[in-house]
Amino acid sequence: AQSVHRGDDGVLRVGGVSVDDIAAEFGTPAFVLDEADFRARAVAFKDAFAAAFQGNADVYYAGKAFLCTAVARWIAEDGLMLDTCSGGELAVALRAEVPPEKIALHGNNKLESEIDRAVAAGIGRIVIDSMIEIDRVAEAAQRHGVVQPVFIRVTVGVEAHTHEYVSTAHEDQKFGLSLAGGVAAEAISKVLANPALRLVGLHSHIGSQIFDTQGFEVAARRLLGLHASVEKNHGVVLPEIDLGGGYGIAYTSQHDPLEPKLLADQLADIVIRECRALEIAVPRVSIEPGRAIAGPSTFTLYRVGTLKDVTIDHGGVRRYVSVDGGMSDNIRTALYDADYSCTLASRGSDAPAALCRVVGKHCESGDIVVRDEFLPGDLAPGDLLAVPGTGAYCRSMASQYNHVPRPPVLAVRDGKVRVIVRRETEEDLLALDVD
Ligand code: LLP
Repeated sequence: AQSVHRGDDGVLRVGGVSVDDIAAEFGTPAFVLDEADFRARAVAFKDAFAAAFQGNADVYYAGKAFLCTAVARWIAEDGLMLDTCSGGELAVALRAEVPPEKIALHGNNKLESEIDRAVAAGIGRIVIDSMIEIDRVAEAAQRHGVVQPVFIRVTVGVEAHTHEYVSTAHEDQKFGLSLAGGVAAEAISKVLANPALRLVGLHSHIGSQIFDTQGFEVAARRLLGLHASVEKNHGVVLPEIDLGGGYGIAYTSQHDPLEPKLLADQLADIVIRECRALEIAVPRVSIEPGRAIAGPSTFTLYRVGTLKDVTIDHGGVRRYVSVDGGMSDNIRTALYDADYSCTLASRGSDAPAALCRVVGKHCESGDIVVRDEFLPGDLAPGDLLAVPGTGAYCRSMASQYNHVPRPPVLAVRDGKVRVIVRRETEEDLLALDVD
């Protein structure tokens, strides 16, 4: 995780900078991102997969976890590819001058304008998610006089062990074309028959925040089975296969993250074994980690505003600690019942711990950042709190609920802090109102 440690003065430091200095200069709340940590993890994935697949692998960073121009540049500089899932993310990638052939576009309902832009830019892969979309992408390719490389997203029928909202390969959900009932096979025939499209491979993404590699194993085997049938039925050897993302990270000490090297070796083992059994060549393999690269790189720095002791069941007391952000910068606790931890960042303390709930400043009681945490009993207004593991799906899912401006993202590196996404201002908030 981040190179965070406590100095002799008890103040938390990241990349050589104290959180006091960060808060004084840039204000709170703020996302504090350790650039070296983010990039090291991106490179670890790239290197691990290159080694496990003898150079025959690509890592696409899933920008939905967190994307801005600086991050897109890092990804390209460090030799990764970039997975986007909307016109907006594609716009960031192009602005950052990520080479178009290194960009992928996902989505179950890509707008015609998004497809058109992607094709016009010459992006490397569009992942087709429905029958209807096959024609849409083909029409765009014809309009631009190109042959568009595409993947087909396959629903492999795996029940991933994760929250229902982020589980994506069982039958009854909106993504992909079903392996069951021959729907995916029909899509494959349809794409192969269209001269404006070039089918590069099949894709599967089973869900997010997954620890159990068995789900990935079943998905890979089913996808490779279909891949082999394309060769048998159509005489076409698809050059690639994409196993998606979803690799879990440790938000609290209850989980062990999936290490890139272990994951790469396991997936390589499964893929190579299965290809041997099917008597087919091993295709080029890509994966799409988002959370596992971005998540651990960042903590959110909040300032404590108020404290309140409330009597709870069985006569206990819970201390409600209100901070200057909340569900607008981290919706994950409210939405997925996600677990976070939290630490007093601006000083050390030997005071006995008190059971606390860290809540935001929004006007609903579900506005919880950290459900349960023991914090020093002398915690007081003005103290800084750090919530680690907020690099994925926090800033990217942030809202302006209650007209609370969204926090900046500050990249720390070699003792220097650089704003990579600036703080939203009141003018930003008012700028869209007409009259
Ligand atoms: N590839 C595809 C096609 C995806 O849909 C996703 C995530 C990823 C890759 C990256 O998954 P990751 O490696 O980050 O788990 N907002 C939710 C997570 C939604 C994930 C959506 N798709 C959360 O905060 O937990």
